[in-house]
Amino acid sequence: MSALLPTYLRHDIELVAGNGSFVQDKAGKNYLDFVMGIAVCNTGHRHPHVEQALQEQLQKLWHTSNLFMSSKQERVAAMLTENSHLSHVFFCNSGTEANEGAFKLIRKWTQKKEILTFSQSFHGRTFAMMGATGQDKIKAGFGEMVPDFKHLTFNDFDSLEMITNQTAAVWLEVIQGEGGVIVAENAWLEALMEKARQYDVKVVIDEVQTGIGRTGSRFAFEQTPLKPDIITVAKGLGSGFPVGAIITTPEATAVFTPGTHGSTFGGNPLAMAAAEATLDVLLNEQQMKQVQQKGLYLMQQLKQLPETMVVDVRGRGLMIGIEFHEPVSSLITALQQAGMLVVSAGPNVIRLLPSLCVTEQELDLAVGKIKTVCQQEVMM
Ligand SMILES: Cc1ncc(COP(=O)(O)O)c(C=O)c1O
Repeated sequence: MSALLPTYLRHDIELVAGNGSFVQDKAGKNYLDFVMGIAVCNTGHRHPHVEQALQEQLQKLWHTSNLFMSSKQERVAAMLTENSHLSHVFFCNSGTEANEGAFKLIRKWTQKKEILTFSQSFHGRTFAMMGATGQDKIKAGFGEMVPDFKHLTFNDFDSLEMITNQTAAVWLEVIQGEGGVIVAENAWLEALMEKARQYDVKVVIDEVQTGIGRTGSRFAFEQTPLKPDIITVAKGLGSGFPVGAIITTPEATAVFTPGTHGSTFGGNPLAMAAAEATLDVLLNEQQMKQVQQKGLYLMQQLKQLPETMVVDVRGRGLMIGIEFHEPVSSLITALQQAGMLVVSAGPNVIRLLPSLCVTEQELDLAVGKIKTVCQQEVMM
């Protein structure tokens, strides 16, 4: 019997080694990994530059707390804010924690209570973030939620009428990941931004899944008309080492003053070593161009899947969803048997989240496996 609380429905595969786009299970079977720890290992598994940075830090110092100065934190913060209107960073350890901190920041900053989030959104599982999340299944059984959050319909112009001078913030993912890889339309985001400006409403973008190059720009909002007051990041920031961050504007320095927020582990030297090396690898124009090109190539290939099975192929950069007419659990199992790992996003969507350093051959290999498995399914 397992001593773990059964909060996860796990696949019967234990992964023990990884390199680049591939992982290996206990029995020695290799898999092409298009899960990447759910959009976490954006540099692939054990990228040599990140591995070296972690090894060097391991031999120096593991933890100091935030009682002391950290030039590594300063450097990573500068890398995250360079060339944008965002200027200040708070480091924490996960996406939920970054969002929870952003919630505190908004409350104190605006002194208002109404926060508008969206149906099918996902922002985490703490009490406040369950409230923020627009999916009933996440809240089921936990009673009354934090009352600040109201959910609007994503990509719906009429629902923007809910933005008023009572609103503290409008809070969204530019591409809803867990909700099914739903891309926000730029015309709608423009209208949203206009309303937010009209009523002096803060804009918070949850970039936990879309950030750190996943969609072909450093942050997904850079490809939209949005000008956020806060973004939250995590997943891809540490290449697999747990780290999260709130990134915000100069005005927030008057809100998050000494003693208002904190974290023992946030910005830990190992996390910062992983983050600095990750950003070294990913946050440059050439990488972002390649992510865009690889994403377009993958999308084109996937659009050739049979229409009898596939409803839609969508996404941006290397965050791609394939929506099927039927539930995808049997396809996911068949792909595992064929040596490829993918993750669902809702019952009918397969989400592809490869390493951003994936090669064209690996993309071809993935498409080949997906096509074969689809053909097998048709014949069954
Ligand atoms: C958009 C988004 N926000 C927040 C979270 C929660 O992040 P974490 O699991 O690191 O707490 C996730 C996780 O999937 C996410 O996709």
